[in-house]
Amino acid sequence: VTVGRIQAIRGTKDLLGDELARWRVMESRVRRVALRAGYEEIRTPLFEATDLSSRSIGTETDIVQKEMYTFDDRKGRSLTLRPEGTASVVRAYLENNVAREKAVAKFWYMGPMYRYERPQKGRYRQFHQFGTEVLGSEEAFHDAETIAIFNAILRGLGLTDLTARLGSVGDEACRPAYVEKLSAYFRDRAGDLSELSRERLERNPLRILDSKEKEDRVIVEDAPSILDNLCDGCAKHLDDVRRALDSASIPHERDDALVRGLDYYTRTVFEIHHEKLGAQSALGGGGRYDRLVKDLGGPPTPSVGFAAGMERIAGVAEELGIAWDEPREVRLYVAPLTAEAEAKVFPLVHRFRERWWAEGAPRSRNLKTMLKRAARFEPDLLVLIGEEELAAASVALKRLDTGEQKAVPENDLIEEIENFARETTGRSSKKE
Ligand code: HAM
Repeated sequence: VTVGRIQAIRGTKDLLGDELARWRVMESRVRRVALRAGYEEIRTPLFEATDLSSRSIGTETDIVQKEMYTFDDRKGRSLTLRPEGTASVVRAYLENNVAREKAVAKFWYMGPMYRYERPQKGRYRQFHQFGTEVLGSEEAFHDAETIAIFNAILRGLGLTDLTARLGSVGDEACRPAYVEKLSAYFRDRAGDLSELSRERLERNPLRILDSKEKEDRVIVEDAPSILDNLCDGCAKHLDDVRRALDSASIPHERDDALVRGLDYYTRTVFEIHHEKLGAQSALGGGGRYDRLVKDLGGPPTPSVGFAAGMERIAGVAEELGIAWDEPREVRLYVAPLTAEAEAKVFPLVHRFRERWWAEGAPRSRNLKTMLKRAARFEPDLLVLIGEEELAAASVALKRLDTGEQKAVPENDLIEEIENFARETTGRSSKKE
């Protein structure tokens, strides 16, 4: 028999307490912004056929090559824990015939994703994303809308100093020629490239643009830019996206070498970064994928979307000391001061919980101990029941902000607390 404590898997973490409270605020902000923009929620399974990831993200990417949690199930089928959400949304879109009902389908989602990466600050093996996908539109309007939504969520959470980097990877008309030009440029300088970049030269020269090695940086700086090599259609599309963003005063800057870790992109790509994150500075990113739906067996369906890393957003907020508070509810604590009063606690707590947050002590203790225990729950109001109160069918109601205490007949108690709630929260409470 093995004894001892079992620990959480490396690269995963528990969410609880104040940290989870902050996540809830982030989640409700995401929901509100997405719903207001006409996006519908979608929830897809956490595991899918392995082919779905490899055929969409690309067989040469780091994700597919070395970061997937892939396993055979009991019937020998190869399954993979989803490393991202886009492929699943596309699969679900096709499988549920969404296109039959909607010419343009807009979805938002949120949930855990899995990548076997080396854990470090802002990088986990189970992490969470929220994101949106628009399927069935080639309009720059929707590229701009995607960036706008992401931006609005971050700003609503109080994040400033954001940089939206905007670029394009072209399409089948202009990308092959550009990749050839870029390869030729790097081949001429292969002797000065890092070993890693020399390896990438054959398989995926675009990835060299993303190299962090010092010797590569100087070479990359003068490399031909895709943005100067776009075909007319792609150049105009990027221009339209920029103009739409400008028209709504959404800040963005040109990025000549934006390399995304997934192969399905065409035309628009973007990332939003925050300086506080250091090396893993992308809060999220996305772009257009006009060929993916077709590659996964559907009709030609131009699409665009993004996903954000929730651990990273929470991490930046914490570093900046931004407090995300849930709307405050009035908190009540019921304390019996005698054994005879104990029977009053449960029905009172039960009734209070129809409108407010309430907790109570099942057993009486001396006053000092009761107050100490109550304090841990940070109540706004204490409801104290002693011998006198019991005899008079009343309670002693104590405000902890002012220290004021008064006797309130049980029959008036709800109304009295409601007055307090309106005064302190500015809202009426709702009985549920
Ligand atoms: P991605 O750039 O691979 O894009 O991931 C989006 C964001 O997820 C990253 O910018 C980062 O904030 C977060 N993220 C990725 N890996 C990790 C990790 N190991 N730990 C913590 N956070 C992480 C996508 O996933 C695309 N599906 C986005 C998209 C949607 N494109 C079109 N539609």
